[in-house]
Amino acid sequence: MKLSVLKETESGETRVAIVPKSISKLQGLGFEVIVEKNAGASASFTDEDYTNAGAIIASSSKEAIAKADVVVKINPPSSLDIAELKSGQIWISQLFHRLNEDVIKELESKGVKGLSLDAMPRISRAQSMDVLSSQSNLSGYKSVICGADNLGKIFPMLTTAAGTITPAKVLIFGVGVAGLQAIATAKRLGALVEATDVRMECKEQTESLGAKFISVEGEGVKVEGGYAKEVSDEYLAKQKEAVNKSLSQADLVITTALVQGAKSPILISEEQIGMMKNGSVIVDMAVAKGGNTALSKADKTVIHNGVKIVGISNFPAQIPTNASELLSRNIDTFLTHMVEEGEFKWDMKDEITIGTLVTNV
Ligand code: NAI
Repeated sequence: MKLSVLKETESGETRVAIVPKSISKLQGLGFEVIVEKNAGASASFTDEDYTNAGAIIASSSKEAIAKADVVVKINPPSSLDIAELKSGQIWISQLFHRLNEDVIKELESKGVKGLSLDAMPRISRAQSMDVLSSQSNLSGYKSVICGADNLGKIFPMLTTAAGTITPAKVLIFGVGVAGLQAIATAKRLGALVEATDVRMECKEQTESLGAKFISVEGEGVKVEGGYAKEVSDEYLAKQKEAVNKSLSQADLVITTALVQGAKSPILISEEQIGMMKNGSVIVDMAVAKGGNTALSKADKTVIHNGVKIVGISNFPAQIPTNASELLSRNIDTFLTHMVEEGEFKWDMKDEITIGTLVTNV
């Protein structure tokens, strides 16, 4: 079987789905690997790195797709990709199938099987294949670095001959994969960290990292398949009350709260931003899904009453080398699971296959 790796075409995307290190593993599974010219360039992997690892370079996406049995990309197919795909091929990428029904229909009408990386079930044995998890982890780190960069202060307490600097206060909304890494990173840099989440199991995880958990009175939220569901307006009102004191004292706020298949919840209103300190910073990691503050704008920095609200929609693209390495490992592990003796198994009793196969072909 031939597996082609495409160069990403979405604006601002710098990652590549497969890095040279994965080529020998893919060859071991029976794949001949073709890589579109310059696919890894913005993640610091040259065409020569790929050919040295045993891949063949295709001069265009058209050529890469035409030669492939399996096509791999990070983001959903562009209209140009779809035009080139043909019946019997397998497409692997994040497809966000609930939000991209048109793309799924087009793949189905072409007779292309679509495997969606973001639909990986949240079960222990799929953890090493979970791209949302690997990318959120890196994003959590980068969000703190981004926040530190935008702040006119340092994180640690510093005692100098000229006086003592008090440690920065960091408040994190959402203690999932990104939030936990953000807590750990902010702690490592010397900040005082607080965090909140609707899932009560996050309390222990937060405290184990040396941060303080802000509990919201009343019932938490039910979790389905590892994802928090939408919470009531009543709960959101209680959450606002519980966090307001910390919010008014925070130097940096990082928001990571997502609800699968829905817009992200607004956790910080314009009024609450108004009560924050002059010079404080909010980094909104949920901005691609609408944002966790009332004023966040994707890929823009909004300044309101001296508070900077930084909305970055693709944090992993700011650390493309590591992000691509982890993605590539996720994908080669997924393929190891799906393929036997050079053929896809299509085991329709397997939770991973059922979860990720989002086309009905
Ligand atoms: P996520 O990216 O879907 O959401 C981020 C966080 O926001 C979650 O902790 C969620 O509870 C929180 N949140 C949602 N609504 C909120 C609100 N109104 N206020 C405050 N917080 C809110 O979640 P993520 O990071 O993907 O992880 C969620 C859980 O799934 C974690 O326990 C994680 O360990 C688990 N997981 C398991 C995997 C596996 O077993 N293969 C893979 C990935 C995650």
